[in-house]
Amino acid sequence: MTEPLVDPFQRAINYLRVSVTDRCDFRCVYCMSENMTFLPKAELLTLEELDRMCSTFVRMGVEKLRITGGEPLVRREIMTFFRAMSRHLESGALKELTLTTNGSQLERFAGDLAEAGVRRINVSLDTLDEAKFAEITRWGRLPQVLRGIDAAQEAGLRIKINVVALKGFNEDELFTLTDWCAERDMDLTFIEVMPMGDIGNENRLGQYWPLKDLRATLAEQYTLVDLAERTGGPARYVRLDETGQKIGFITPLTHNFCESCNRVRLTCTGELYMCLGQEDMADLRAPLRAAPNDDTPLEEAIRAAILRKPKGHDFDYSRQSLGGQMPRHMSHTGG
Ligand code: GTP
Ligand code: 5AD
Ligand code: SF4
Repeated sequence: MTEPLVDPFQRAINYLRVSVTDRCDFRCVYCMSENMTFLPKAELLTLEELDRMCSTFVRMGVEKLRITGGEPLVRREIMTFFRAMSRHLESGALKELTLTTNGSQLERFAGDLAEAGVRRINVSLDTLDEAKFAEITRWGRLPQVLRGIDAAQEAGLRIKINVVALKGFNEDELFTLTDWCAERDMDLTFIEVMPMGDIGNENRLGQYWPLKDLRATLAEQYTLVDLAERTGGPARYVRLDETGQKIGFITPLTHNFCESCNRVRLTCTGELYMCLGQEDMADLRAPLRAAPNDDTPLEEAIRAAILRKPKGHDFDYSRQSLGGQMPRHMSHTGG
């Protein structure tokens, strides 16, 4: 292994999130507009190129790889890539191979994912009401996702449910969602909606349900015990005394967690974003393609990029306007 990656704020970078496609079979209203223009397929890194990119990062000290999208499981032949990455799990270089998915294709792929060495997955699900699910995802269907979750649990995968907290939308399901996760022994994380990308006529500020309010409501029925536990991720955890379940809160708007950030993001075209909430990125596709048999230029480009990792994002909903809004969609950088 080469020198570990450390950024200018002494944060060790050992976590790579890789978006393998910008496409998705859903159109969640807070994520995409109804008419999205996606990248032409020729722009995408091939599966072999993705392998080379990820393997280079692993050699440089990345221990956790999260595959994202768009919806990662709609990328053609994506299981070939998962199977290829499992060699880094076997060698011990990689500690975790995982993905964030909308669940639509899990029924088909859960078994293969488990076989490739995936142990835990994150599934995005904002409501348990069929009609509301169709409304928020525009194209998604709840029963299909629930079957996917069943298949994943049958395959032995541990599940974390991600719920984007949306004012006036899933406020009334706080307890239903919490109880459902407890019953099925799934972890649960609530996320504040972030100003990412143009979403058409939807109104971000109208969607914003601060998690401190959500937390206060939860505390009306449960005893919340703050956990010191930090995973290097943005979530802060509590345990509900009554059920013993763990709940995470991701609060980019009301609490900044950037000081412990350990991650960078690679897009499906080979751009490296050093922060979800900043525009700076480094093109890694050019050095990758320029030297097909030599990873040195790629390694140099990665090191140079890490030295530009900013201190944090600038998301801000105060003063009733959208501060720090990002022009790109979440599906571009994979959340
Ligand atoms: P871990 O990889 O275990 O930390 O899981 P995670 O919760 O970060 O991953 P997931 O893909 O489920 O992301 C959940 C939400 O957290 C998404 O909406 C992400 O955009 C958001 N998120 C993850 N990392 C960051 C970050 O560094 N900054 C900000 N602002 N949000 C993040
Ligand atoms: N703000 C917060 N979370 C978002 N996600 C997608 N768009 C946004 C947004 N604007 C979530 C998805 C998924 C994760 C990858 O990002 O619901 O859980
Ligand atoms: Fe697709 Fe996820 Fe965006 Fe929904 S949030 S449209 S499932 S990428």
